Amino acid sequence: MPEQFERGNYNNRDNINPNKRTGELLLFVILVICLLLWHTLASAKTEPSNNSTKNGSSYVVLAWNNLGMHCYNPDFQNLGVLPPYNTLWAQVIKVADPPQFITDGITIDYKFLRNTFSEGKTNFWAWAQQLFGLNSPLSSNIGLTGKGLTGRMDLIQNAELGNHFEAEGIPLTEYYDYDKKLQKPSPYQLAQITVRNADGDILTQTLAVAPVSSELQCINCHADDGDATTRYPINQTGKVETNILALHDYLNRNNSLAQPSLMSQQPILCGSCHASNALGVLGVSGVSSLSFAMHNHHDQARVPDIMPDTTDGCYNCHPGPKTQCLRDTMSQNYGFNCTNCHGNMADVDSNIRNPWITEPRCDNASCHGAGYALDQPLYRNSRGHSGIYCAGCHDSPHAIAPSREKNDDIKFIMLQNQPGALRKCTVCHATKPSQAFRH
Ligand code: HEC
Ligand code: HEC
Ligand code: HEC
Ligand code: HEC
Ligand code: HEC
Ligand code: HEC
Repeated sequence: MPEQFERGNYNNRDNINPNKRTGELLLFVILVICLLLWHTLASAKTEPSNNSTKNGSSYVVLAWNNLGMHCYNPDFQNLGVLPPYNTLWAQVIKVADPPQFITDGITIDYKFLRNTFSEGKTNFWAWAQQLFGLNSPLSSNIGLTGKGLTGRMDLIQNAELGNHFEAEGIPLTEYYDYDKKLQKPSPYQLAQITVRNADGDILTQTLAVAPVSSELQCINCHADDGDATTRYPINQTGKVETNILALHDYLNRNNSLAQPSLMSQQPILCGSCHASNALGVLGVSGVSSLSFAMHNHHDQARVPDIMPDTTDGCYNCHPGPKTQCLRDTMSQNYGFNCTNCHGNMADVDSNIRNPWITEPRCDNASCHGAGYALDQPLYRNSRGHSGIYCAGCHDSPHAIAPSREKNDDIKFIMLQNQPGALRKCTVCHATKPSQAFRH
């Protein structure tokens, strides 16, 4: 084996000899050529955005995932916090002067590149019926809202939130089909979005990231030998999930609202007692919300290993040290961590908040101010520039363009040949407007 292809030693820069350098350069050049080839092929296959149809009109589709990351449990046999459930949004614009929003006479289909099934990649389907109290078992590879890994987006007409297309609750996992042993999680999955007219002609296409991860690191503390397990006289069960249930049973043994024991109700949905706006469940009256319960109980006094003032602390439960869901320009170029926007554990659990609904705002006076006003409580539902969703031009929360991930960049490059917020006026306007751009 030629020396430059030997494994190991790559971290030790002092050891690199000129041969190795040449090898690396060669590899790099090959990589660049492959990328260029891939890009040409990909754009040929997906057709240039903004492409003209028979009658000469051209269209643009903006698409994004509603959240910057969706996380789900790695194992549903014992307990469930969140199911696999990605939600894509899209908006279609006809290029004109002025640009027009199109909702009638078109269909939008989605599918995932090299990711066509989920059953077997997660054991969700074995436990979903019991966990969510469904009347009948879920069909294979179909999620809680009836969506599968390919399908059609629905037109949502909403006076407040605006008209857009949506595919809610896609049961996506982070594993490509070829990754049979589930060893290479790829959290930034690509959805191909295709817009067709009534005759079935393709009007335009794009590739949008659907971020997904099961990297909940409860194992950091709830393993058999973990601090959370050994601190109390509970039996080590040999599994993180059942250790958590046993601990919950022990700590709440005198609370009638926490009965019967969670160990006797497996698989148990945490949201069956603790309200969660993510699941749309109200929980049991008198029991705190899941967000409050989790952030309040894992505060620094009880759990000193969660350093509340760093992203690493939040990555104990939010994905995660490997996934690094926070990848937006503010984190990459301006040094932001979770607590710069969310505050620490105590701020997240502060009682007056409405979890999932009261979140940080761009137009906060200490951030970007009123010049970038949101017209809705949440960034993800807000629109600017005469009706375009902020996320259509800036991307999902936590992925605000330009992002660290190349996959996030693709759709912007397809439209304007460069990553970063959608800034090229003629992507939507037939001719460059003479007036200034207004948010
Ligand atoms: C950094 C360590 C750490 C991590 C990571 C962690 N926990 Fe804990 N957790 C603890 C400790 C320590 C306790 C016990 C605290 C005490 O003394 O009450 C605890 C307690 C709990 C309890 C019992 C609360 C009660 O009063 O019933 C639950 C439930 C729980 N954790 C769930 C989870 C889940 C789910 C995750 C992953 C999403 C997780 N924890 C991640 C350290 C951790
Ligand atoms: C049968 C109802 C029930 C279920 C199911 C349930 N809990 Fe609880 N939980 C309670 C009650 C009651 C309390 C104590 C009071 C409170 O937090 O409102 C509690 C307390 C907690 C606490 C401590 C809250 C604090 O402020 O110290 C955490 C953390 C917690 N639960 C997490 C979970 C997780 C994670 C799950 C799913 C594995 C879960 N619970 C499932 C009823 C339940
Ligand atoms: C011990 C595990 C754990 C840690 C550590 C943790 N979280 Fe969470 N967090 C959760 C769980 C579980 C949920 C989902 C609750 C639900 O489904 O409603 C959640 C939900 C949230 C939400 C959405 C709900 C809401 O309250 O608005 C925010 C925001 C959030 N976390 C921020 C943070 C930040 C910031 C940190 C670090 C300072 C952090 N979390 C650390 C477990 C954790
Ligand atoms: C630059 C500011 C910023 C940073 C940094 C940031 N967030 Fe957020 N976060 C937001 C905003 C804005 C929202 C509301 C997004 C929306 O409209 O849904 C949000 C929402 C959330 C939610 C609720 C789900 C959602 O997208 O609405 C969770 C969970 C969350 N953040 C966790 C985190 C964690 C964990 C970190 C660090 C790894 C982090 N955030 C870093 C601004 C930030
Ligand atoms: C038609 C596309 C478009 C829409 C819609 C849009 N923006 Fe922008 N936004 C831009 C462009 C282009 C810039 C300049 C970006 C740059 O210089 O990197 C920008 C800049 C910003 C900045 C300033 C960033 C900085 O570097 O200081 C903020 C904050 C912002 N937008 C927030 C929003 C919010 C909030 C919404 C929704 C209410 C929104 N934008 C809607 C295209 C858009
Ligand atoms: C993602 C598509 C898109 C991009 C990119 C875009 N626009 Fe627009 N623009 C629209 C739409 C849609 C309207 C509303 C048309 C209508 O009035 O129905 C609009 C309206 C306008 C208007 C008239 C209304 C107003 O708000 O004053 C001006 C001026 C304008 N755009 C300027 C620009 C400039 C300058 C740029 C580039 C910096 C730009 N736009 C980029 C979609 C876009």
